[in-house]
Amino acid sequence: MKCRVCNNHIEPFISFGDMPIANGFLLEKEFKDEYFFELATAFCEKCFTVQLVTQPDPNLMFHDNYAFFSKTSKSMQSHFKEFANWIIANYLKNKDPFIIELGSNDGILLENFLNNKIRHLGVEPSANVAKVAIDNGINTEVAFFDNNFANQALLKNGKADAILAANVMCHIPDLNEIAKASKKILKDDGVLIFEDPYLGDMIKKISYDQIYDEHVYIFSAISVKNIFAYHGFELIDTLPQETHGGSMRYVLCKKGSRNVSENVSNLIKKEKNLGLDKLSTYKQFKVDCELSKVKIKSLLKKLKNEGKKIVGYGATSKSTTILNYCKIGPELIDFISDTTPIKQNKYTPGMHIPVKPYEYFIKYNPQIAVLFAWNHRKEIENKEKLFIKNGGKFISHIS
Ligand code: TMP
Ligand code: ZN
Repeated sequence: MKCRVCNNHIEPFISFGDMPIANGFLLEKEFKDEYFFELATAFCEKCFTVQLVTQPDPNLMFHDNYAFFSKTSKSMQSHFKEFANWIIANYLKNKDPFIIELGSNDGILLENFLNNKIRHLGVEPSANVAKVAIDNGINTEVAFFDNNFANQALLKNGKADAILAANVMCHIPDLNEIAKASKKILKDDGVLIFEDPYLGDMIKKISYDQIYDEHVYIFSAISVKNIFAYHGFELIDTLPQETHGGSMRYVLCKKGSRNVSENVSNLIKKEKNLGLDKLSTYKQFKVDCELSKVKIKSLLKKLKNEGKKIVGYGATSKSTTILNYCKIGPELIDFISDTTPIKQNKYTPGMHIPVKPYEYFIKYNPQIAVLFAWNHRKEIENKEKLFIKNGGKFISHIS
């Protein structure tokens, strides 16, 4: 296959086998028509980008029934408030600034700009999540951000001071189009700021569940620098984040328009030490994933044989990769509790474990909870003090 960014020939370094849509929670009557594709990842030795080999049609993933609502977690809400304040303090110094957010979901980030009376536009392809934002007064258009959209938005609103994206850039297959459209719509001193799950964390933690249909890319500073350099952008800052099990915030601008922070060269040095620029690192990652799979599966089997009541906590998108790669189904996990109404009383994609409202977790009194929302571990352990006090254990493939 060809690299999506630079057209170089690339080969997959890992396949997770047949995978359903990560957020495709479904009813029993839909089992027979469930869609599967091969989830495999490749590394480009020219632009150093880690990417999916094939991705399902975006319309299968981002539609009117999209199951991911950002506002489900308190810690994410405070993260986005801090993110907005940081942008305002550092990058919105022009008079009457205007910002655009790609994939603005339910408005979790933009509401902070609305509260500060800052001109904003959210671009969100999934109508149901966009509606939540619109109902809260956030200026949102149901669309994919592309060249056409940029042209229209430019006519309507003029140039932007900042383009923002949180856990969205890694979802977009054609980054060259995004870079071109962003260049067109940004002011000369405008910035492109985005954060996404970080490749360095994924390799260190063996958190292979970051890989699923929506995440076309798992970025590093080395890859982001290269991808956007092809379009005249410069990576000027990088800031590690705790969200989503380890993320990185990237700040880019038109080359030469702003100073470059030392953070960038320091991070790139670290990435080279970790081997993020070498294929051998990804070959080792594959071996690590196989070991991780054997470990979690045998632990669950052992606990089940001991007669333990096992449930899952958080029917995350990431859990679809774990469950289908490790072939863990309802014979090992009785149900997964989740606070998102649209997922409840459906089944998990592929392995068909029932998803139940949070109250089931409390009533069922399990001994073991597989923490699929491991990226929210602190918040959840705080909330579930009673479960832990009564001898309940959270387990996860992430140690
Ligand atoms: P995320 O890891 O992609 O943010 O998804 C979190 C999922 O976990 C979402 O479906 C909501 C669910 N969840 C719970 O059920 N209980 C919780 O306490 C938290 C934080 C999340
Ligand atoms: Zn490439």
